[in-house]
Amino acid sequence: MSRNYLQAAVEIAQEAGKILIEAFSGPLDIRYKGDEVDLVTQADKRSEQFIVSRLNEYFPGHAITAEEGTGQDTASAFRWHVDPLDGTTNFAHHYPCFCVSIALAERDTLLAGAIFNPYYNELYTAARGEGAAFNGRKIAVSKVPTLSTSLLCTGFPVRNRRISPNLQYYGEFTQRTHGVRRDGSAALDLACVASGRFDGFWEFGLNKWDVAAGVLLIEEAGGKVSDFAGEPYQLGAPVILASNGLIHEEMRQVAWEISRRAPAPGSR
Ligand code: IPD
Ligand code: CA
Ligand code: CA
Repeated sequence: MSRNYLQAAVEIAQEAGKILIEAFSGPLDIRYKGDEVDLVTQADKRSEQFIVSRLNEYFPGHAITAEEGTGQDTASAFRWHVDPLDGTTNFAHHYPCFCVSIALAERDTLLAGAIFNPYYNELYTAARGEGAAFNGRKIAVSKVPTLSTSLLCTGFPVRNRRISPNLQYYGEFTQRTHGVRRDGSAALDLACVASGRFDGFWEFGLNKWDVAAGVLLIEEAGGKVSDFAGEPYQLGAPVILASNGLIHEEMRQVAWEISRRAPAPGSR
């Protein structure tokens, strides 16, 4: 059952990826959502328009949450979470780290997810109970056993940057690990934890569409996703902590200690 959903998500993400690549090679029409850091391009909108209309065609009646606001609420227990272009700032600067992220949940249970970077033709997929894959080959989280030998990644919000506590976390984790990357696409960050490229990830204030597919990928690849208290991550929670499982408790302890020194809204 979930495989058909996954097939649809993959097909739609790949088609939307073509829309992004076409726009990427031409002049970009960049607009701002509110201020001069929260960017949106015509590509975000065109990609979303395509994804939402195709989902409606394939699964009429399903609810859709999509970042640019063209989704819909319905009475259905099935809801698609759509980020039509994750990594818009990268995209707008011609840095090819961006993707389409599509996931399906039945109430609180994630069933299927696809994350596609069309520039590198990299496709990450997961279906509940069926594992996770990268370009069709099964993937698993890394086996890195300690925080001190890990490579982490994080991201910074584009809104309310001044009140984000993340620089403290960034500094602390940088000193305790092999390094912390900041790639600018939360969906790809999570996919990279699932495939073992990164060993852990944390971020504040992400939306459901940023993380839904990535969370399922990590769970299906044998990793762990929680909040800073170690409770299972709830979609849309104010903080997310994801890892290969082995370094989870070490990461959580560090995050928890920092949050006690400088509490961030909802971080504990
Ligand atoms: C953003 C990216 C980024 C994260 C931001 C998100 P967008 O999504 O995922 O990595 O740090 O918090 O808003 O706006 O490019 O879809
Ligand atoms: Ca987006
Ligand atoms: Ca996003």
